[in-house]
Amino acid sequence: MAQIEAHLASEQPLAGRHVCITAGPTYEALDPVRFLGNRSSGKMGIALAEGARARGAEVTLILGPTHLRPVDPGVKVVSVRTAQEMLEAAREPFAASQLAIFAAAVSDYRPKREAPQKRKKDGQVFQLELQENPDILATLAGTKKPGQFVIGFALETENLEASAWEKLRKKNCDALIANPLDEVKRGFEHDTNEGLLLTADGQSRPLKLKTKQALAHEIYDTLLDGSYI
Ligand code: CTP
Repeated sequence: MAQIEAHLASEQPLAGRHVCITAGPTYEALDPVRFLGNRSSGKMGIALAEGARARGAEVTLILGPTHLRPVDPGVKVVSVRTAQEMLEAAREPFAASQLAIFAAAVSDYRPKREAPQKRKKDGQVFQLELQENPDILATLAGTKKPGQFVIGFALETENLEASAWEKLRKKNCDALIANPLDEVKRGFEHDTNEGLLLTADGQSRPLKLKTKQALAHEIYDTLLDGSYI
């Protein structure tokens, strides 16, 4: 019996734990038909949600607008559209979580005003006023309690590692996955990704190019093996 339990514990190392994950883009409305958004597919966050389920966790996925959904019906999906909605939807699952992963590509800005009707063109220059959105990761990680482990992402086009270390500290993360952005086979809209896994104890580990599913497994296995989570 003890042997069976030990086997189950090694197969399901996250059993009994709550994991909260943000994923996908956010869309910020300009008028009833137009929005500001980005090209995130949500694939990395969905892969992380399925990886946590496979290890026995209770998973809540706060998912921005994407047509993709986790295959595993056990993942609780909360669909949102804007950054403000994502923050509100994440508050409770974050507070209840032992592990939180912020994989969403949140729009940093939103139009200051949303036009109630579709905007007509008038031959004039149209200047759009934008205001900053809340930083969901920084806001929630600022309320982190002992026993909670927070993982952020950093998407960088230059100075990958230095910028990532700065982001880890600034946003109160325990670990951070840093991804370089290029157009070939990594990051947005791709099935594969690579980068670095940084932990707050100062260690940096390379994550070699692989599918987002394989990367999710590597991230969990590394953090579990190192007793970070
Ligand atoms: N993030 C967030 N809310 C925001 C912006 C970012 O939760 N409003 C989270 C992302 O989910 C990611 C991390 O913060 O985990 C870093 O996102 P990134 O876009 O790389 O960085 P920014 O904070 O937006 O900084 P910058 O664009 O200036 O590099």
